[in-house]
Amino acid sequence: MLRSKPPAVHRYEPDADWHRQLHERLGLGWPCTASPDFERLWLEVVEDVRLHGLSLGRNTYGGWDDADPGFARAIWCLMSHLRPAKVVETGVARGVTSRIILEAIERADTGHLWSIDLPAMDPTLHEEIGVAVPQTLSRRWTYITGTSRRRLPKLLSDIGPIGLFVHDSSHTERNILFELREAWPTIDNGAAVADDVQQSPGFARFAASLPGEATFVVEADDASAMFGIALKLDNCGQKPRFTAR
Ligand SMILES: C[S@@+](CC[C@H](N)C(=O)[O-])C[C@H]1O[C@@H](n2cnc3c(N)ncnc32)[C@H](O)[C@@H]1O
Ligand SMILES: [Zn+2]
Repeated sequence: MLRSKPPAVHRYEPDADWHRQLHERLGLGWPCTASPDFERLWLEVVEDVRLHGLSLGRNTYGGWDDADPGFARAIWCLMSHLRPAKVVETGVARGVTSRIILEAIERADTGHLWSIDLPAMDPTLHEEIGVAVPQTLSRRWTYITGTSRRRLPKLLSDIGPIGLFVHDSSHTERNILFELREAWPTIDNGAAVADDVQQSPGFARFAASLPGEATFVVEADDASAMFGIALKLDNCGQKPRFTAR
């Protein structure tokens, strides 16, 4: 059963210079030193998924999109520089964002990812869950089945504080606001990112509630969606306390 795609309902002005500005906020030089590794990794991810007889893109998994390279690149950049010990995400599907996070954790040789995911309604799609994640990366991964509404509050109170939160589940205003408001207080010197923010005014409302924090809205590589980034640095605008590389 295919989920029908909601139309874009909120018009955001994307920040064309977001990547350079994000580096500036992190006290890092420009261009991003993590980008070349990402471009190599992305080709590997695409190829690994192809070996399962699948291709990445939009509307691939019961009407849901796989992460586009722009969103994945932003997550890789944040993972590489912030090196968070604990990462929480919502929305796994074929596991593209999970793979990117777990690759960064593996290279840092420390950290853990908790992913909350409501499997697709069509049970024939369940064998596709996490296909982008090789077995070798699963030792630092906890996959939790259920809705974020039921699972996220307890998970965060059990494991917090966290360094990165990734929203990629249901993109309704109610759900994105719920997840970001739950996760934000538990983020310590890190960031929250959210995919498909154009589907509701939720990210704009969330960003408006954070005066003084750096927030960005970014256009996906194929220009058909937008994602949001909110940085939570304890000394915003100056050198962050964590060891940025
Ligand atoms: C856009 S896909 C995730 C894509 C994935 N992050 C990737 O990069 O490949 C959204 C996923 O979230 C799941 N989902 C939908 N509503 C949810 C909810 N309320 N809580 C948790 N997961 C949900 C969907 O079934 C689907 O597996
Ligand atoms: Zn970077």
